Amino acid sequence: MKTIEIHGRSGASTILVGEAIGSIERYVPLDKTVMITDVTIMRHYQDILPPCPVIQLETGEKAKTLETVKDVCLRLMEIGADRSSFILGIGGGVVTDIAGFVASIYMRGIRFGFVSTTLLGQADAGIGGKNGVNLAGYKNMVGVFNQPQFVICDLSLLKTLPQKDLLCGFAEIVKHAVIQDPQLFSYLEAHYDRGLSLDPEVLERVVCDSITIKSSIVNRDEQEGGERRKLNFGHTFGHAIEKLSGISHGEAVSIGMAIASRLSHKRGTSAREAVERIESLLTKLGLPIRSHCAGEELLEAIRKDKKQQSDSIHFVLLKAVGDAFVEQMPIDELEDAIDGCLAPVAT
Ligand SMILES: NC(=O)c1ccc[n+]([C@@H]2O[C@H](COP(=O)([O-])OP(=O)(O)OC[C@H]3O[C@@H](n4cnc5c(N)ncnc54)[C@H](O)[C@@H]3O)[C@@H](O)[C@H]2O)c1
Repeated sequence: MKTIEIHGRSGASTILVGEAIGSIERYVPLDKTVMITDVTIMRHYQDILPPCPVIQLETGEKAKTLETVKDVCLRLMEIGADRSSFILGIGGGVVTDIAGFVASIYMRGIRFGFVSTTLLGQADAGIGGKNGVNLAGYKNMVGVFNQPQFVICDLSLLKTLPQKDLLCGFAEIVKHAVIQDPQLFSYLEAHYDRGLSLDPEVLERVVCDSITIKSSIVNRDEQEGGERRKLNFGHTFGHAIEKLSGISHGEAVSIGMAIASRLSHKRGTSAREAVERIESLLTKLGLPIRSHCAGEELLEAIRKDKKQQSDSIHFVLLKAVGDAFVEQMPIDELEDAIDGCLAPVAT
């Protein structure tokens, strides 16, 4: 088992990679715990979940709403949860985003921890203390920064994960490599096929490296005043594509990363080789790199994204694979720059 620590203003978080879900009683007070999970996790893992009251969510992004938050809070009241209770979120990013948000506001905040059950959750969503839900179709518009006490990443749970969701996890792992870790990127180029077939050694390496990259950034900039914005690489277009086309978060981020890479090359900040390597790795992983949304539609959705400040946007660009930077870019400039960047580079 490997342990990685986050020390945020909102508390400390211990991330345990390789810990088993069966050891959960070491980390939670079982008599005070309420579990929040989804129907799929219940179906696969009911027999090994801890014996405590359960609140079951529907699956998918459609569940990430204030309505769900209200329903969960009402259920907590029915169960008799109080300020000494502990919320245990067991699931992918949707469950942990909701569970962390509910725990942060119920009775002005109670203790919480996660068992992340998707690759995306283990490598990214469960880590770093961002919790929240969508509003009016816009991603994560309502939320808080608050660290879970622990995040258990039990890699054996990934064996039941559908292939499509596995790929989405790889999209965020590629993102971490692209913004900060050229060695991880090369490792993924060499071993992506072993990763796709759930080789435990490869999974442990890429999940640990991802968490280390994200944790180090969060430790320096928990509340996203500067460096943490790099973690949004690919997400400006990604969120717009996710909203407009309804494809999954990871797939949309994959396309967003390809667009941001092309934009970096077009603006002269990175070499064409970087775009080719990124597009090639995403394609080998089976992830999409081309958007079918029209440029104007995407820009309109970006204008409404919460990360937009006045007429400009913080956009993450590349100097090279493993080296990203944030530029405040007028939206009008983005409009000019995006021309020709929606389709893959010709090889
Ligand atoms: N808070 C953050 O910092 C952060 C970062 C990145 C993404 N996110 C959010 O995470 C969400 C996406 O998370 P996700 O990709 O984990 O999706 P998800 O939570 O929707 O899970 C994907 C699907 O896999 C199922 N599932 C989960 N674990 C399983 C398992 N072990 N076996 C079989 N099926 C399983 C779920 O029921 C669901 O149907 C998005 O809402 C995104 O905005 C948050």
